Amino acid sequence: MAARIIDGKAVAEEIRRELAARVEELKRSGIVPGLGVILVGEDPASVSYVTGKERACREMGFHSGNRHLPASTSEEELLSQVRELNEDPRIHGILVQLPLPAHIDAERVLLSISPEKDVDGLHPVSVGRLVLGQPTFVPCTAHGIVKLLVKSGVRLDGAHVVIVGRSNLVGRPLANLLTQRSSEGNATVTLCHTHTRNLAEHAARADILIAASGSPRMITPEMVKAGAVVIDVGVTRVEDPAKKKGFRLVGDVDFDAVKEKASLITPVPGGVGPLTITMLLYNTVESAERRVADPAAAAKGRA
Ligand code: GUN
Repeated sequence: MAARIIDGKAVAEEIRRELAARVEELKRSGIVPGLGVILVGEDPASVSYVTGKERACREMGFHSGNRHLPASTSEEELLSQVRELNEDPRIHGILVQLPLPAHIDAERVLLSISPEKDVDGLHPVSVGRLVLGQPTFVPCTAHGIVKLLVKSGVRLDGAHVVIVGRSNLVGRPLANLLTQRSSEGNATVTLCHTHTRNLAEHAARADILIAASGSPRMITPEMVKAGAVVIDVGVTRVEDPAKKKGFRLVGDVDFDAVKEKASLITPVPGGVGPLTITMLLYNTVESAERRVADPAAAAKGRA
């Protein structure tokens, strides 16, 4: 029987409705959540992602501290822009879109973001807190995948999850989240990567298979257990003259074939993507709420 297709847009809209109520509550306390997204250069995929993030923030009524800088921007100039956002009390969240141009040390830039405004969850302090199971900002795509699974009624407790891809944005934080002792964790995780031997055998043992390698259509039906839940994080642009934009987005999963074997599957686009932006809104609202609850703690970076 063909799999049920998870509608990421519908799940994202449900979460955004919940967030809109929290934003209204914040506004009653005189706080407008503020997000500063910094984009350096004109990488088309990054421009598209950032445009989506900015639109979502506008729709949610956030204050905007967005900055678009030329590709030639020096590391020092970028660090100074981050510093300004760190010090701006109207800003509760900062995101520097990756990848950065090669002449900029991305690690140094991420380290310069105040942990209490690190709504991207990529600062070493945020990563450390996540590993330790402490309250923190969770990277948006990883967090979105967990929400997608939970809201789709998938049982994580005791499930065997196989993640393909060990990136700092998705694979690693996801492995940490899913192994937390919590109602949205308690899974057993196998984290596969480019040096994994017998990847297909690992994948075929998964109750939940999460493909986040960036290799178009690498997950074929032989790699999927009958009835498994399959989450596709891939978004590779492939040239397609038939499309208005000249390209289409291709996932890491051979969707048409795998949907005949899985019980639940995400499409590309319209699966994980809408959750990524939504969880950025979520983290920004959380950050603003922390400021209201405990201004001194938030200012010192305690979560
Ligand atoms: N580039 C692609 N995804 C992301 C993300 O979630 N955060 C940042 N900062 N850059 C990205």
